[in-house]
Amino acid sequence: MGRRPKVTIVGAGMVGHTTAHWLATEEIADLVLVDIIEKMPMGKALDLQQAGPIRDVDVSIVGSNGYEETAGSDVVVIIAGIARKPGMTREQLIDTNSGIVRSVVEQVVKHSPDAALIVVTNPLDAMTYLTYKVSGFPRERVIGESGALDSTRFRTFIAKEVGLSVEDVSGMVIGAHTDKDMVPLPRFAHVGGVPLGHLVAPDRIEAIVARTRRGGAEITELMGSSAFFAPGAAIAQMVEAIVRDKKRLIPSSVLLDGEYGERNVCIGVPVVLGGRGVERIIELPLNDEERAAFKASVAAVREHIGSLKL
Ligand code: NAI
Ligand code: 2OP
Repeated sequence: MGRRPKVTIVGAGMVGHTTAHWLATEEIADLVLVDIIEKMPMGKALDLQQAGPIRDVDVSIVGSNGYEETAGSDVVVIIAGIARKPGMTREQLIDTNSGIVRSVVEQVVKHSPDAALIVVTNPLDAMTYLTYKVSGFPRERVIGESGALDSTRFRTFIAKEVGLSVEDVSGMVIGAHTDKDMVPLPRFAHVGGVPLGHLVAPDRIEAIVARTRRGGAEITELMGSSAFFAPGAAIAQMVEAIVRDKKRLIPSSVLLDGEYGERNVCIGVPVVLGGRGVERIIELPLNDEERAAFKASVAAVREHIGSLKL
């Protein structure tokens, strides 16, 4: 008899518990929630577990302030850290969050040496690189969540603009997960196979791109805290792609080793996610403008990585 996949979420705050909610609803895996706040993850796990009989959800959900219960996880999602407040950039979180992520990764790899790690803590690309270095895992098993979220925001704004179903909208964001340097790719977006440029005027496409870049900031200004519904859904999509070996094409932050002419940097590019983690990196035929934007994005991430104490 097989066993259900096991997924650990470290950092059971807003994004952590929302991710657990999406994963439980779809019965994707047994879940372990870990946080340093005493008893809190046990409470959240119990609350979510008690929704099971209503939602017909049989997965096990437990909380912990330690790592024993996480042993042998198939996927570990790292969301521990502080989030930005209105007016802050994600980059301003680097000193505090690098200490937290380092200590979390050291624990995680001891207990789940074969897991795929999905990194969420900001600044995302630098934290993914730090996780790659500290874990010692192959690059296929260290994956930053960035493009899944930025792309769902891009697709939302496209669907609103054209007045058509989100189901038909395909679009992708690559590059750094920062307001300034993310790279939405309208030239590769389409609605039901029709290129976006055929349906939407250039100035409106520009407006969609600008709103996508500020997607996280817009929500933080409205709520006074960082987003969690769409981030949680984005993470759950990645987890599902891995534990169900779905071979989904989802832009994610991964270590480049020659792809796009870059090495030794983690940045968002289109990847295929499946049972082995990152199974393939897709190299897009970028035009001069897109390539220049991507290069600038890589330069920004290299600067963040340079400030890490490795
Ligand atoms: P939150 O404050 O609601 O939750 C963070 C949790 O991490 C807290 O419960 C805290 O106690 C816990 N934590 C802190 N240190 C820990 C440690 N050493 N071990 C275990 N748990 C620890 O914050 P929220 O909104 O959930 O955001 C978490 C992080 O995710 C932030 O860095 C935020 O910027 C990032 N984020 C990234 C996104 C992305 O697309 N990559 C999207 C949304 C948020
Ligand atoms: C977001 O994009 C803050 O990274 C987080 O909502």
